[in-house]
Amino acid sequence: MFNVETIRKDFPILSRKVNGKPLVYFDNAATSQTPQQVIDVIVDYYSNYNANIHRGVHSLSQEATDKYEQARQKIQNHFNAKHAHEIIFTSGTTHGINLVANGFSSLLKKDDEIIVSALEHHSNIVPWQMLCERSGATLKVIPMNQEGELVMTEYDKLLSKNTKLVFVNHISNALGTINPIEYIIEKAHQVGAAVLIDGAQSCPHIKPDVQALDVDFYVASAHKMCGPTGEGMLYGKESWLKKLPPYQGGGEMIAEVTFEKTTYADLPHKFEAGTPNICGGIAFGAAIDYMNAIDFDAIAKYEHELLEYATKQLSQIDGLKFYGTSKHKTSVISFNLEGIHPYDVGTILDKLGIAVRTGHHCAQPIMDYYKIPGTVRASFAFYNTKEEIDIFVSGVKKAKMMLS
Ligand code: ALA
Repeated sequence: MFNVETIRKDFPILSRKVNGKPLVYFDNAATSQTPQQVIDVIVDYYSNYNANIHRGVHSLSQEATDKYEQARQKIQNHFNAKHAHEIIFTSGTTHGINLVANGFSSLLKKDDEIIVSALEHHSNIVPWQMLCERSGATLKVIPMNQEGELVMTEYDKLLSKNTKLVFVNHISNALGTINPIEYIIEKAHQVGAAVLIDGAQSCPHIKPDVQALDVDFYVASAHKMCGPTGEGMLYGKESWLKKLPPYQGGGEMIAEVTFEKTTYADLPHKFEAGTPNICGGIAFGAAIDYMNAIDFDAIAKYEHELLEYATKQLSQIDGLKFYGTSKHKTSVISFNLEGIHPYDVGTILDKLGIAVRTGHHCAQPIMDYYKIPGTVRASFAFYNTKEEIDIFVSGVKKAKMMLS
């Protein structure tokens, strides 16, 4: 049974005060909070078996290696990858995207086309622009509409035999729109293009099945789903990961090194040069265990209730405009108060102990589309409550009164 009061007890930070007020944490799309169960795993690692992995014959190294590889299997099972070696540990979503973009440098040529969407985070725009500069390929953009949805009829028109890659986020970080990735993947495959899905915002809400999706690459960050920062994963189909060259050279990613020639290690190590964030990987596995024990269906249902409740309350405020009104969205609300800068609203909310993100949310093209400098963004997690939403809504009303 999903019980938010019991769940909240797992998160020590939720009982702290900010500016003398109980913390209301609505910046979950930026980073989620960490339950005691994951904090304990981090403390246990550094207290009891901190050692480098895949290297030593000594017991601590073996223990750390086993735990790290068990974490890889947890991630494999969670995303339903066929093989554990299709899971590459990364420092986060941005690292995973850059790894793939870099790998495609030698596989693309002039006249090839890459498709991204108007709803992307900068991390799913800039690496592809850099790839286009290196390879001579062209970047095309699936446009969005006023509701903050991608226009699929335009996507259909962009696809051609020149399309080699399609990169779309599963959920927009700025607006919360859930994109029709099943359709996007199917259509891209019909013209022979590979697809990377940026799952940074979907991983805390949805349990994706990479085999059922038939997606070529899927990337996510641990810190969006109750794990530590500086840790993430790249799923790649085995066939693609074998084709891509290594991203970084160094220890661990080699089979044999001489000054004449180096041969590379098998997957996944070919993409994991250097000492990784060992504790982070193990804690990522613990975060996945924690969220699965709560159950993703229960999480999605509850967060949808929070979204509906907050949308209803906020819509009663005169002069409040929502950005991103798709029927298919997750628990993210972006809005502005007429004539008031989002930064000012965020500052007053902070004084009341309420954490939201303000600004362009690393998605400037979306703000340009709406011709605004930014929005106030409240993003809810499964440990938030309707009572917190009431505090937030009265905070927004207070900000409006003070700033109008
Ligand atoms: N990408 C994160 C956000 O949306 C940081 O806030």
